[in-house]
Amino acid sequence: MQENQLIDPFGRIVDYVRISVTDRCDFRCVYCMAEHMTFLPKKELLTLEEIADVCDTFMELGTKKIRLTGGEPLVRRNIMHLISHLGAQVKNNNLEEITITTNGSQLHKFADSLFDAGVRRINVSIDTLDSEKFTQITRWGKLDTVLNGLRQAKQSGLKIKLNTVALKGINDDELSSMVLWAGEQGFDITIIEVMPMGDIGSENRLDQYMSVSEVEQKLSEKFTLIQSNHQSAGPARYVDIGETGQRVGFITPLTHNFCESCNRVRMTCTGQLYLCLGQDDNANLALALRSEGKKGLKEAIIEAIGRKPLGHDFAIERGSSNQAVSRHMSVTGG
Ligand code: 5AD
Ligand code: SF4
Repeated sequence: MQENQLIDPFGRIVDYVRISVTDRCDFRCVYCMAEHMTFLPKKELLTLEEIADVCDTFMELGTKKIRLTGGEPLVRRNIMHLISHLGAQVKNNNLEEITITTNGSQLHKFADSLFDAGVRRINVSIDTLDSEKFTQITRWGKLDTVLNGLRQAKQSGLKIKLNTVALKGINDDELSSMVLWAGEQGFDITIIEVMPMGDIGSENRLDQYMSVSEVEQKLSEKFTLIQSNHQSAGPARYVDIGETGQRVGFITPLTHNFCESCNRVRMTCTGQLYLCLGQDDNANLALALRSEGKKGLKEAIIEAIGRKPLGHDFAIERGSSNQAVSRHMSVTGG
């Protein structure tokens, strides 16, 4: 393997790293978490300095894009220290892009600082525009706060993509109006299928699950959908809406395999590197960094990429536990 590029056993170049900076969140979305979640003890988390070391080492190995996720990344104390460090790496051409995935709850406070630090694009998760439903889905969230955050972010100059999870019987009747609203605001939107990740308590994912093909079918009753060749760094497939010219993405891990073009790995907030969202194989980067420093860290990363699996085995079926992997999305990041 070349020193400055990570290539997996299937010839895929890995140049995109997603990092969950905290497993904590100020929402409790029904498809993501149980209402009474137990979070990791704070002392198990990598420090922000350690996360910066990991990021820098990945950059030395050819990483072009880093996304910070959670949990909710903006609830981690002093997170702007890390974001500013990564923004500086973008300004120095060591990194092409730093992005974050956020639930928007803190955006009104952070939008300007994010832009000033060098962030240009963010993903904001929002599953409904109805304030009652919003609180039903997020349990603890307030729609107005998120809408205010979106306004601030737009004003700050951040380009915004919405992530919307399709939820049967909850927001399925609203998806076409959300697509229209996003278009009016100048936001891109990607619709995501529920994935079987982590225990969600008394909720049942089979009840929540709705295939994105069904969503596409419904949208096509309202709009002309034109298949698009657009490619992003992520796993979405795109269509253009004929009537508005707007692009809509679909992420369909269950009905459509997005693994062939996978270019990414994910690190948890405790420093475990997961090679695939839907597999348990991982590498303990925290241990490598703490016991052998940055050199050991680099070797551990190279070794781990050498066992990146071909793909995931997600399935949501009646009678199964509907939990392909035991960790929550908030541990590894979306
Ligand atoms: N299935 C699908 N999407 C999920 N998210 C969190 N948990 C799940 C799940 N089990 C979404 C969030 C956010 C993105 C990071 O992942 O809503 O948009
Ligand atoms: Fe928090 Fe995102 Fe999970 Fe909702 S989906 S509980 S916002 S981490």
